[in-house]
Amino acid sequence: MKIISDIFKMQRTADDLRASGKKIALVPTMGYLHEGHLSLVDEAKKNADVVVLSIYVNPSQFAPHEDLSTYPRDFARDSKLAEARGVDIIFAPEDKVMYPEKELVFVETEEVSHILEGEFRPTHFKGVASVVAKLFNIVKPHVAVFGQKDAQQAFIIRRMVSDLNFDVSMIVAPIVREEDGLALSSRNVYLSEENRKEATVLYRSLNLAQQIVRDGERQFTRVRSEMLRHITAESQGKIDYISFVNPDTFTRVEEAGALKRVLALLAARFGRTRLIDNMFLEVSHK
Ligand code: PAF
Repeated sequence: MKIISDIFKMQRTADDLRASGKKIALVPTMGYLHEGHLSLVDEAKKNADVVVLSIYVNPSQFAPHEDLSTYPRDFARDSKLAEARGVDIIFAPEDKVMYPEKELVFVETEEVSHILEGEFRPTHFKGVASVVAKLFNIVKPHVAVFGQKDAQQAFIIRRMVSDLNFDVSMIVAPIVREEDGLALSSRNVYLSEENRKEATVLYRSLNLAQQIVRDGERQFTRVRSEMLRHITAESQGKIDYISFVNPDTFTRVEEAGALKRVLALLAARFGRTRLIDNMFLEVSHK
């Protein structure tokens, strides 16, 4: 496995790989790898000859009050895990390489990027889209693999790819969970033992929503109330939002109508740790 930190070197390596007919997959991450990231590597390997895993904690997607300085990092551990899983190249640039001067040009994201996560993190998706566009230009992948855990991010990147005509195929891989249902996230390490236990309520509330919708409920305000009741009864979690969207457009859904699937998304804080999760709900049309 090669480790590249220089942009020019990564671009020339990508050119050589392309010239020799190899298909490149990119798995963009911020490191502190867990089984969720490694499942993206598995997906990348199925779809390409060479897997590039980027590890970069991108400052431009964190607001000043967020956890940029404390975001967990362990490059030695990450590179062992990546190599064992069959990653071919780690691209791990430093800040001064990615942002040699204050940026003037960004990828601006509209509408969908201002709801849900965007309401709580107003500049987040602009930072994400801009850094992913840079990574696409540096790694020159044929395929890029993202996780469904960050559903809104995956939707926005998919739209960036189509709106800006990036020549990259997107794969979105399913959420990987702990045995008790907690969605894997690098931020789970922040959770105290008690918060860690309580946070499993998020998955249970999503399952509850699925059950209610399967039983025929079509009004999502009622589904939301039931989830809220369940979460507050079982935990000290502070909910930022519980929302339902049409997965094809990411517009909010209050009534199922003819939709066959609705995406339920939520964000909640346990102690100082903010977690997000989501689930596709199959709508009953009996
Ligand atoms: O999902 C992440 O880890 C980040 O948002 C990404 C896509 C690597 C961009 O920094």
